[in-house]
Amino acid sequence: VSLKNFNTFGIDANARYFAEINHAEELAELFADPQWLQTPRLVLGGGSNMLMVADFDGLVIRLNIRGIEHRISHDDVFVEAGAGEVWNHLVNYCVGYGYAGMENLSLIPGSVGASPIQNIGAYGVELKDVFESCQAFEIATGIIKTFSKADCKFGYRDSVFKSEVPGQYIIVSVKFHLSLIPKFNLKYGAIEQELAARGISEPTLKDVSQVVSHIRVSKLPDPSTIGNAGSFFKNPVISAAEFQPIQQNFPDVVNYPASNGQVKLAAGWLIEQCGWKGKTVGNTGTWKNQALVLVNHGGAKGEEVYSLSSQIIDSVYTKFGVTLQREVNIVS
Ligand code: EPU
Repeated sequence: VSLKNFNTFGIDANARYFAEINHAEELAELFADPQWLQTPRLVLGGGSNMLMVADFDGLVIRLNIRGIEHRISHDDVFVEAGAGEVWNHLVNYCVGYGYAGMENLSLIPGSVGASPIQNIGAYGVELKDVFESCQAFEIATGIIKTFSKADCKFGYRDSVFKSEVPGQYIIVSVKFHLSLIPKFNLKYGAIEQELAARGISEPTLKDVSQVVSHIRVSKLPDPSTIGNAGSFFKNPVISAAEFQPIQQNFPDVVNYPASNGQVKLAAGWLIEQCGWKGKTVGNTGTWKNQALVLVNHGGAKGEEVYSLSSQIIDSVYTKFGVTLQREVNIVS
């Protein structure tokens, strides 16, 4: 089965077996056949955070579990969505009803079920800020377990599903805790300037969602026309001691305070400084408006994108002594 239409990079790689899951119960039925417990597995939501560098000699499970429900209690709103719902569809649904909390996460590609795995985030808000709990199918036992926010051990682009129990659970639904009373988070990036430019001084949820979407569209390529998986690398977090010489040599270095006195650097800035921004290499390259995003200009092989990413890691290391970590999942 070709996965070309199931990964936003648009890489034409194949999977040996493919199963589509529409209801959580179908997972139990699937794994009732012990063959699938032994087979390498890849769970696909929107396929927006992966790079296929080879064909996948195993079972691809495409999650298509739908449904959104909500419950209001005073000013609190609890929204539960199936793992296969499109993330931005859920954001639009919540913004439309006036449920506050997700507006800064507008237009992030991918599915609801994938959102906790790497604690998606943008414009000063992370998934963990609106997360209540999720239900996950434990492959080894066939039992559906509830994970609280604490159970998920969220970190920057990280969770227990990525760091401690990778591949052991399949998230089937996520519950969010939103509010009828907006608490706007407008400090990040150009949100405030863009609202001001539109003459908006008292924004609504819809205004913020539209502005965030506008900023994203201006910086990030649309995967439906140019294959990509968003940020290819994480923003590196380094110690103050490691940062000191970098700041001395590069006074303009973009940096933010991180936890425990550490410093977070903007990977996009580091990559741009190495001359990669907007560069085309064969069928691949970096995006002209955001060097952190690697793109498929058409017909790129996964290996080609991977090899470009290795070159970028090398050159950033040579210039700054900082090792970039890939953020997308490499599937081989
Ligand atoms: N920058 C450059 N050159 C570039 C790109 C960025 O100098 O080519 C500088 C910008 O000028 C800015 C800084 O780097 O000063 C940060 O750039 P930006 O605001 O675009 O955000 P980012 O740190 O590059 C992160 C997330 C994005 C998220 C944005 C907005 C990561 C790995 N990426 O990018 O998330 O949309 O912030 O909040 O944390 C994703 O994870 O796929 C993703 C797109």
